Amino acid sequence: MSGGNGRPGDVFSFHIPGNVVFGDGTVDRLPGIVRELGANYPLVLIGRTLCKTGVLRSVRGILDSSGISHGVYDQIYPEPYVESVGAAADLARAGGHDLMIGIGGGSTMDFTKAAAVMAPGGLNILDLVGRDRIPRKGLPTIMIPTTSGSGSEVSPVAIFTFSDEKVKKGIVSPLITPDAAIVDPELTHGLPPKVTADTGMDALIHAVESFLSINANPLSETLSLAAVAHIAGSLESAVKNGRDAGARRMMSMGSLMAGMAFAMAGTAAVHALAYPLGGEFHIPHGTANTVMFRHVMEFNLEGNSVKFARLARSMSDETKNMPDTDAARFSIDWMIDLARNIGVVTRLRDLGIPESAISGMAEAASGETRLLSNNPRSMDKKQIEEIYRKAW
Ligand SMILES: [Fe+2]
Repeated sequence: MSGGNGRPGDVFSFHIPGNVVFGDGTVDRLPGIVRELGANYPLVLIGRTLCKTGVLRSVRGILDSSGISHGVYDQIYPEPYVESVGAAADLARAGGHDLMIGIGGGSTMDFTKAAAVMAPGGLNILDLVGRDRIPRKGLPTIMIPTTSGSGSEVSPVAIFTFSDEKVKKGIVSPLITPDAAIVDPELTHGLPPKVTADTGMDALIHAVESFLSINANPLSETLSLAAVAHIAGSLESAVKNGRDAGARRMMSMGSLMAGMAFAMAGTAAVHALAYPLGGEFHIPHGTANTVMFRHVMEFNLEGNSVKFARLARSMSDETKNMPDTDAARFSIDWMIDLARNIGVVTRLRDLGIPESAISGMAEAASGETRLLSNNPRSMDKKQIEEIYRKAW
């Protein structure tokens, strides 16, 4: 029987929401899911930008027409500070809300996960940062993503900015995995091209990093490769024509699969090196990942060309008859070409970050051990600094 000497991915557990609903128009099913979870008085959480669009009005209409009274908290800003969660948790506690519905991109869904844990009271959010630090479940949550990127609707991760430390850090626990997710691709149709491109690159990088993670397993690898194929076949179309319903469906599915894959296998050094860019310079998450991608991947290539070649074969038919080493290189070039075609910056200097910031960023990134420990090749601070210099 199994001993203790296997690869990291030989033993795994897989927490995902108990109900994942996918398809155009499925946001209509929200009232039924609220009731399935035994709730009567949900709090809807939404970001400042999105609450000005028709999405909030339409979700409120769906709840109202089923007689579900509810509250709204709309003070969520992109890449939120960890301290900002308290006000939403207090509102839920004071109002007697018994469920939270997070509508938006990764920032809003992550915020909702943390607010739901804090709502019953008695916890300090700073004690929850890291892996498995949450002592009990909070209010149940339903996530409704409006981007195809973060995978937060199915993941056990909530990322926040910390004003003192200029880095981003995660709260990670199966106790914040949402109870239900409604992935309705129609909600992404109005997303501007720039946000579609940025969040789409994030989803693609989730798929690639989870596939290469040393904690990958046969189930996560299957989801990662399927995610790569879905996103590779649709991201450019979704950016160029946001109303392309087929492309939007493919992106929603790819992002969902990538989220499930990294819920098991994690993300790795691209995310670790990208976080200081977000924490200190407020670079959008997908762009931060994209500028670090090429040079982290070139570092990871050593000893891993067979896996890179499998990625390449999910990206493009052109690689069918290529030797593995050529296909492996192709996978990196192909992703950089895609990023350029959809207008995502691929070099650090083009983001206005001074070269003098590199040693500080290397210091911060080397502390992201939760992510670096998944990377297929270990890297020390000196190597991290070299990668930043190449990326600059
Ligand atoms: Fe990400």
